[in-house]
Amino acid sequence: MDVNKWNEHSTYDGLRGVLDPNDKKGSKNILLNEIHWNAIKEGLEKDPPKRLLDFGCGIGRLARDISELGITYNGVDRSPEMIRKAQEIHSGSMLDFRSYDGKVLPFDDESFDAVLSCGVFQYLVGTADFELVLSEIHRILKPDGQLIMIEQASGSGATSGTVQRTATERDYITALVPQFKIHSTKCVRVKNLSEKANSMIRSPLIPRFLFKYFVASLAKEEKRRIKAMSMQEVATYPYYDFLMVTRKSRDWKLDAATSTTKGLAQTTTHKA
Ligand SMILES: C[S@@+](CC[C@H](N)C(=O)[O-])C[C@H]1O[C@@H](n2cnc3c(N)ncnc32)[C@H](O)[C@@H]1O
Repeated sequence: MDVNKWNEHSTYDGLRGVLDPNDKKGSKNILLNEIHWNAIKEGLEKDPPKRLLDFGCGIGRLARDISELGITYNGVDRSPEMIRKAQEIHSGSMLDFRSYDGKVLPFDDESFDAVLSCGVFQYLVGTADFELVLSEIHRILKPDGQLIMIEQASGSGATSGTVQRTATERDYITALVPQFKIHSTKCVRVKNLSEKANSMIRSPLIPRFLFKYFVASLAKEEKRRIKAMSMQEVATYPYYDFLMVTRKSRDWKLDAATSTTKGLAQTTTHKA
């Protein structure tokens, strides 16, 4: 993982550092944020966790919304500059943001009901770091705890400008099982937004401050559009965002023979 890259992204304005860095006007990112939050909220409201870890929280764009649902929020990120900015944005709140060294999560075993990864695993799946990250998330989750993610998957095998990987949904599932059981998965956004959304995003007549008034209805229209698509149609897009809900598998234990992370996970304890 390139810490310098994410430190630099933390200096971008608005949501550009954590969503589309090319969206200078800012309207597209407002819509993406709304689409992500609607999908996450739906899952959280169905089975509300008491305490949630936002893994790779960035500037904490989802922190306030999550805590307003009555959920105790903790955020960690590998980039110290993202954490510094998150703390600055949310100064005066009870929200907790901490740096993560990429090895051991600074929390006790079985201390979270849910972990959220939004736009983070897409950079890790298929890398050597992923096994360690996953075993740490498994360790801090309570039995049956949820791992919820919104990540980019490749449909037709292409990469996007920001995510230079071609992981398919199947690749994510293969990487998560057997530590986690897959509960549900659904597409929440395809690469191309509707023509209407695109023209409103680009229109010089609708500046960013005005766009906010249209975003709720546009997000609802996008949801309806995606819902009407078959998985075959979704897979024709170069990439799409999907929401996956998984549960910690109780039976899975770190295996000394197959894991390089056993020593770390078993000999280190942390206070939350
Ligand atoms: C695209 S941003 C998403 C931020 C946030 N989740 C959001 O949705 O707004 C990806 C974030 O993942 C963080 N990240 C990347 N690799 C990580 C790792 N191995 N452990 C923790 N954070 C990581 C980056 O520093 C960056 O803040």
